[in-house]
Amino acid sequence: MGIESSCDETAAAVVEDGYKLLSNVVASSADLHVQYGGIVPEIAARSHIEVIIPTVKQALSDAKTDWNDIDGIAVTYGAGLGGSLLIGVLAARTLSIVKRRPLYAINHVEGHVYANFLTETSLPGYVLPKVQPKFPMLALIVSGGHSQLVLFKNPFDYVLLGQTHDDAIGEAFDKVARMLGLPYPGGPSVGQKAREGDPQKFKLPKAKLERKYDFSFSGIKTAVLRLAQEQINEDFTFPSKDLPERLSEAQKADIAASFQRVAVETVVDKTILAFEEFKPRSVVIAGGVAASPELRRQLAERLPIEINHTDPKLCTDNGAMIAALGCFKANLKQKAANPYSLSIQPNLSM
Ligand code: KG4
Ligand code: ZN
Repeated sequence: MGIESSCDETAAAVVEDGYKLLSNVVASSADLHVQYGGIVPEIAARSHIEVIIPTVKQALSDAKTDWNDIDGIAVTYGAGLGGSLLIGVLAARTLSIVKRRPLYAINHVEGHVYANFLTETSLPGYVLPKVQPKFPMLALIVSGGHSQLVLFKNPFDYVLLGQTHDDAIGEAFDKVARMLGLPYPGGPSVGQKAREGDPQKFKLPKAKLERKYDFSFSGIKTAVLRLAQEQINEDFTFPSKDLPERLSEAQKADIAASFQRVAVETVVDKTILAFEEFKPRSVVIAGGVAASPELRRQLAERLPIEINHTDPKLCTDNGAMIAALGCFKANLKQKAANPYSLSIQPNLSM
């Protein structure tokens, strides 16, 4: 049983042996945050409290199983919003004690990578890779909170090659969406708008950093703001919240398309560099932005090996990825957590 509650999704799933997806239930409070243009932590936490138990029950019933068949419980303990993490961790600790099952503490970002190890399901509507990725494996992790390149020698031995110095790529998508008056989450809405626009229309900067595998997305975000202001003949003092009503639909589409192309190119450039340097046997992409068709297209065009992508539903936050990594921990005899004392780590890094 995998339980995930680090942000605005309350999720639970049952996975068998680390590869077979038996259920995947995600209750999102995203709709409640739309009017604020971003996640409100207090609203997310309250919503987790309301739905965590029904979500876990639904995961068992969708998997056509009950606690007798569950060997262990895996839960995200960081990184994430404190109030949100607390609900999932307290629920998992309680279940671990009451049901007498081992508890595995999962790093959310590592969890994202393991969505790619699910290769079988009888659930409708999922397209999964046919085989599990091979080690050494290069992972590009791109989400609302993370932009990282990680080289895995084996499941529990990895090096962080680089990460973002400021915004994550998903965060940049979300902020650009807000400037263009497109709904949250920004990844899909910018992607949708970009389809009507010209990706070559505007030049936007790619950050140059000292360490070759590091990222930065705050520069491009500011560049998009200045570009939008210029398009409506205003200077840098024009408030970004008033941009959506002044920009035409065609301008929004061209800005969305140009931003998406350059933001995605930035992470693809570094993935290709790392692939050439480390020659991994597989490459995986993980995290919410891994659902982006533009990212998948650019990687397919430039990488010499094929990526077996997972279903977009498993790229955004879910319990299945947490359960999958939990299975690896259990099978490879990693230490279980103490259900009486496991605490959350909102700033946990890789
Ligand atoms: O992994 P995730 O669900 O949550 C975090 O751990 O952050 O990622 C959420 C991020 C958001 O920034 C959202 O805009 C982005 O993933 N995202 C996408 C797509 N779906 C979600 N970005 C690009 N294309 C998508 N289809
Ligand atoms: Zn995530």
